[in-house]
Amino acid sequence: MTARFELSGTILVTGGMGFIGSNFVRHLLVTYPGVRVVNLDQLTYAGNPTNLSDLDGNSRHLFVKADICDDPRVNRVMTEHAVTAVVHFAAESHVDRSILAADDFIRTNVLGTRVLLEAARRAGIARFLHISTDEVYGSLESTGVFTEDSPIRPNSPYAASKAGADVLARAYHVTYGLPVLITRTCNNYGPYQFPEKFIPLMIVNAFRSEPLPIYGDGLYSREWLHVEDHCRALAQVLGAGQPGAVYNIGSTEERRNLDVARAILALTGRPESLLRHVQDRLGHDRRYALDSAKIRRDLGWAPAISFDEGLRQAVEWYRTHEAWWQAILSGEYQTYYARQYGGSQGGGGA
Ligand code: NAD
Ligand code: TYD
Repeated sequence: MTARFELSGTILVTGGMGFIGSNFVRHLLVTYPGVRVVNLDQLTYAGNPTNLSDLDGNSRHLFVKADICDDPRVNRVMTEHAVTAVVHFAAESHVDRSILAADDFIRTNVLGTRVLLEAARRAGIARFLHISTDEVYGSLESTGVFTEDSPIRPNSPYAASKAGADVLARAYHVTYGLPVLITRTCNNYGPYQFPEKFIPLMIVNAFRSEPLPIYGDGLYSREWLHVEDHCRALAQVLGAGQPGAVYNIGSTEERRNLDVARAILALTGRPESLLRHVQDRLGHDRRYALDSAKIRRDLGWAPAISFDEGLRQAVEWYRTHEAWWQAILSGEYQTYYARQYGGSQGGGGA
């Protein structure tokens, strides 16, 4: 099977109104003039059409509001639009919400992925890029990194549902020869990230001079990748990745949560007295870190945006897009926030 796929024709992107998906749709349309995107998204609380309002009127972008679990609909979309490749982002994506209730995570992440894989198999598509996560590997202590061959040991309901999808995608390659590619990526940050996730939550709370809730001792550490570097990596995997292969996508930029929060306070000119240690997340993974030598060596990808520069840019983006996040804060977010953090924003739970 050839290891090259030309990025042209109609690509079905699922979850393209979410954080990474919307950045990826924009990246595809700007970088590959021969690509047309069918963007299939259910518009859950995390899906936001304003993420792509700059594409209004672009004839190469077609939005379809649909649930990936809707078998007949997904099959129809794939055949009616003569889709050649699928890039699958759609998911319930937040660990804390999966701890509150896992049902939607199993439904969308596992069953929805099965619907897409099956439809792709029937349609005979040329590539199926499945977006997985480093969280499928579980947690690391203070040393070591996960390679693509590390065992799958997910700890949260979110990670377990993503692991289910990940191994199902692999099984469709082994069993049916579906040209599946799997990427496992570290924590992303950047424009359009929903402010339930750590970095945008800290930025938004800092701007509003609300407390910054730090789970436990704050010494948990994550590897941070700018979403635009991630999108470039995904396009390279889609175009030149080996079907059946897994690619870790990491930045090597590891930071402890407390250090990230402090950096955000410095960038927003807010005092460290806003830091609040709150009750820890259940089953909180201590550390994630990836060995991404394979994608760097085989596909020549490397991140271009350092964490310090990327964080500065992200703070600037949220500073200049206040209407975007204020609209989110005024909706369902308030109910979630009160449930997760107790009482008013940033308080409680200590
Ligand atoms: P997100 O929550 O911002 O977006 C998810 C999108 O999927 C939303 O637009 C939502 O409306 C859509 N969606 C949810 N359920 C759906 C359904 N049943 N049918 C159709 N659409 C549905 O998520 P994100 O942060 O952009 O993450 C995208 C993907 O990348 C996910 O698969 C996630 O597991 C993975 N990932 C994310 C990160 C990260 O740091 N954000 C890291 C590694 C992997
Ligand atoms: P998150 O953005 O939810 O990503 P993930 O858990 O999938 O890596 O969280 C990143 C880190 O920040 C994680 O260690 C949990 C921590 N965290 C807090 O300390 N406070 C918060 O309010 C949130 C949302 C996360």
